[in-house]
Amino acid sequence: MIFDSHAHYESGQFDADRAELLGSILPQKGVCGVINMGSDMESLQQTIDLCDKYDYFYGAVGIHPECAADLPADWLETVEKLLAHPKIVAVGEIGLDYHWEDACPRERQKEVFIAQLELAKKYDLPVVIHDREAHGDMMEILRKYKPKGVVHCFSGSVELARETVNLGMYIGLGGVVTFKNARHSVEVAKDIPLDRLLTETDAPYMAPVPFRGKRCDSSMIAYDAAKIAEVRGITAQEVLTAGCENACRLFGITL
Ligand code: NI
Repeated sequence: MIFDSHAHYESGQFDADRAELLGSILPQKGVCGVINMGSDMESLQQTIDLCDKYDYFYGAVGIHPECAADLPADWLETVEKLLAHPKIVAVGEIGLDYHWEDACPRERQKEVFIAQLELAKKYDLPVVIHDREAHGDMMEILRKYKPKGVVHCFSGSVELARETVNLGMYIGLGGVVTFKNARHSVEVAKDIPLDRLLTETDAPYMAPVPFRGKRCDSSMIAYDAAKIAEVRGITAQEVLTAGCENACRLFGITL
């Protein structure tokens, strides 16, 4: 039973075999739930389409910090309208990405992020947060706005993970835990309470070892779960079950 709390199946990397992969291969491999992320204006509608087509798909709608520079004037209204769809369970993926600040200046990223945190609060929805090389500003904003939700592909220290958990949030861990240089992620995987862990991919990106660099899909979470289980001294099945139960609790999903 695999729950992928973060994927981008509208990506062109799935154009050649999307129907076969999502229609039969993933369910056959035990994938019971996927939350597809919106990231720009185009992927919002594509996320809705995936939710309408596949029973086990749910969606988040939001604007990714990399895509926040040139938005139409009514972008926030568009996101807000889509929240009414019964399978849209979160606002995401939203956040700060200072690695790509050439794509969008920091102040604009913060403005778009905060507008979406407020939108999520208005509808009492969880958020799916992207934080890359922006831990300081991110924590400051999380402390102030106290959203419910998850920091996906968590890349901070154990101390930051503990603070994030204490703020009431979940920690998303994916393929990075299997990377050789992933010291932080492995420490976090070992330390956080099991009931705050979400399993995820970020597919088509972040494929775990032994598929690193290849196209990722949700079935590969089995490899992340094996690694997390190993460092925690539990079984991979326990990790997968927790990932599924935690996602259902956070996003209000009944499988
Ligand atoms: Ni993502």
